Amino acid sequence: MTYPRKVKIVEVSPRDGLQNEKQIIAVEDKLKLINGLRTAGVKHIEVTGFVSPKWVPQLADAKQVCAGLTADESVCYSALTPNMKGLEAAIESGIQEVAVFTAASETFNQKNINCSIEESFDRFVPVMERARNLNIKVRGYVSCVLGCPYEGDIDPLVVAQVAQRLHAMGCYEVSLGDTIGTGTPLAAQQMFNLCAKQVPTKQLALHFHDTYGQALANIQACLESGASVIDASVAGIGGCPYAKGATGNVSTENVVYMLNGMGIETGVDLDALIGAGRQISAVLGRKSNSQVANALGC
Ligand code: HMG
Ligand code: MG
Repeated sequence: MTYPRKVKIVEVSPRDGLQNEKQIIAVEDKLKLINGLRTAGVKHIEVTGFVSPKWVPQLADAKQVCAGLTADESVCYSALTPNMKGLEAAIESGIQEVAVFTAASETFNQKNINCSIEESFDRFVPVMERARNLNIKVRGYVSCVLGCPYEGDIDPLVVAQVAQRLHAMGCYEVSLGDTIGTGTPLAAQQMFNLCAKQVPTKQLALHFHDTYGQALANIQACLESGASVIDASVAGIGGCPYAKGATGNVSTENVVYMLNGMGIETGVDLDALIGAGRQISAVLGRKSNSQVANALGC
């Protein structure tokens, strides 16, 4: 068993973390969070989503958030774009990387983006073409890879097929979303291994929500299979408004602490990261979901 020497952390808290909050978070606080993550050494930050404000009111300020980003050539700021309207808005906002998202569950897709899996791919065709012409990198998400809030168990072969299609249409990285956090390590590893038969291992990312406290164990199981890209959210904030009961992503502090202990490089400074988590937790008015942050006295 060989673990990777380095892992790329994709920080999703400004988007996944804040999209599910009931209270409106000020643009200024979102920018403080993004800057805190950047100064902690995070190089990939998903800052917002250009989605319908009727569907996700919390991200209605996507343009303003992008306008306030601190230019930093070493950092990639990305955003979700479900369709051409989202992509055009992202382009106007100067975003360098976008992400399309679909699912391995028909019902979840209908609830989340109002179309079937097949229709979502039809929407992505012009998005991919326009992005390619402008040299904008596109990431792809597959949701419900280890279970669906509406359909229950999901066939990992369907997950692998959706991942393969995203990769084949030009997504440089495919992020595997355990949207509701029901996965367990062996199931996660089996699903990851099936995806790795279709998409090069280095182009697969783990996006595990921690609802059942399984995310770190699932990540470790997938690291054993060669995973080297991990999505995480500082203070463990997050959830999908269309996946009731699902809590946040695995906390970035917990991931970095585990990887530090395993001698795997992330380039992220744990203390500074904890500071960024403390700041957003104060804005949200609650304790961090990160055991590491809490144990280290924050
Ligand atoms: P729709 O209603 O089918 O879209 O929504 P439509 O094309 O019929 O348009 C309806 C209205 O929305 C129109 O406005 C459009 O202009 C507008 P109106 O004429 O009614 O005033 N519209 C838009 N506005 C802003 N930005 C856009 C956009 N597109 C249309 N891009 C749509 C389809 C995809 C837009 C909608 O369902 C949507 O926005 N869904 C987003 C849901 C979402 O963001 N969910 C959370 C993120 S996914 C997630 O969390 C999972 C993930 O983390 C991985 C995991 O954990 O599994 C990624
Ligand atoms: Mg998510």
